[in-house]
Amino acid sequence: MPRVVVFDEFGGPDVMRVVEEPVVEPSADEVRVRIEAFAVNPLDRMMRSGTSPTPVPLPHARLGVEGTGVVDALGSRVTGLETGEPVILTAVPDAHVRGSYAEYTTVPASRVVPRPAGLGVTEAAAIWVAYSTAYGALVEKAGMRPGDHVLITAASGGVGRAAIRIARQIGAVPLALTRHTAKKDELLAAGAVAVVATDREDVVEAVRHHTGGAGADIVLDVVMGPGQRELLKAARPGGTLVAAGFLDPRPTPYPAGTLTIVGYRSFEHTLDPVVVKRMAAFLNAGVRLGTLRPALGKVFPFDGIAEAHRHLEKGLHAGKKIVVTVQDAPGPGDRAPRGGAPRRMGDSSP
Ligand SMILES: NC(=O)c1ccc[n+]([C@@H]2O[C@H](COP(=O)([O-])OP(=O)(O)OC[C@H]3O[C@@H](n4cnc5c(N)ncnc54)[C@H](OP(=O)(O)O)[C@@H]3O)[C@@H](O)[C@H]2O)c1
Repeated sequence: MPRVVVFDEFGGPDVMRVVEEPVVEPSADEVRVRIEAFAVNPLDRMMRSGTSPTPVPLPHARLGVEGTGVVDALGSRVTGLETGEPVILTAVPDAHVRGSYAEYTTVPASRVVPRPAGLGVTEAAAIWVAYSTAYGALVEKAGMRPGDHVLITAASGGVGRAAIRIARQIGAVPLALTRHTAKKDELLAAGAVAVVATDREDVVEAVRHHTGGAGADIVLDVVMGPGQRELLKAARPGGTLVAAGFLDPRPTPYPAGTLTIVGYRSFEHTLDPVVVKRMAAFLNAGVRLGTLRPALGKVFPFDGIAEAHRHLEKGLHAGKKIVVTVQDAPGPGDRAPRGGAPRRMGDSSP
């Protein structure tokens, strides 16, 4: 039977275990995806440890909000997709039930898009969450335009690197923030126009210097905590700060000033088919032009899932995406044997 990662209690990486479970048949508007690879995200660690913003019902919770695979079975009302078609998952808001840490998952058909041509499996597994978050926060939410100065926190992280590339593609000016001077060259090579390293530089002074004294038009804050106070001073009056992450667990002081501050969760866009269409088109164009690609870190086998989480927890990924490959996925028993023709559910043909 196909394997799936579940956990029954909150805790460290070892609470996750691999079990075998029958596949779920897609209902009329759903598709079943045979997962080829998935990425490990900070949200997965939070869900597993019991610190995610949304409570996770236990026991037997699944994990995983992104991944790639091929369509294995289609619900009777699904159109525009074919069995065997390579796809990426665009949103798994109920990851505890339909998570991508598995050989199969069944999701609404609206939550998959065709895999961009030219992306390998490991790249495709790791592209959507970082790029859709950065795109949604900067373009859809903050209205980023060519020429805007955009201050990007945790720029060496998955979302940060995606934000740098997206700003570049649009013609905005990405200013990368890191805590370490040693990462400057890497971030310039990744596309940052300038890098501010907080171990040696004052954020406000450095951003004023790089913006001709004006301050940043947009700040993407995926760190929060007390450091947000300085970010607010580094922005121009009337600018926008998008709060999209929480790498710093300390409280964020109540903000004051003339800035527009907006919170952002990518599900507000990735559950909207109209925005998903724009995101997918933007991503496809970037992949085709060679400008948008995830920075890949270590790749783990399916049985190495606990090791993959330890790698993330220790920060060994250095902001690059951790991918887990789902190798030798068996077919779901006698319903759709691997290598055989998968079926449309409700299809009475043998
Ligand atoms: N809103 C949404 O829908 C959404 C979607 C995806 C992710 N997120 C959130 O966005 C955040 C970033 O995700 P990610 O995948 O980019 O993470 P990531 O790849 O793990 O980011 C790692 C980078 O963050 C920086 N960092 C780590 N801890 C920090 C701290 N305490 N203070 C300042 N910088 C720190 C480090 O950069 P330096 O060492 O260079 O400083 C590190 O290289 C997470 O909180 C994640 O949950 C939100």
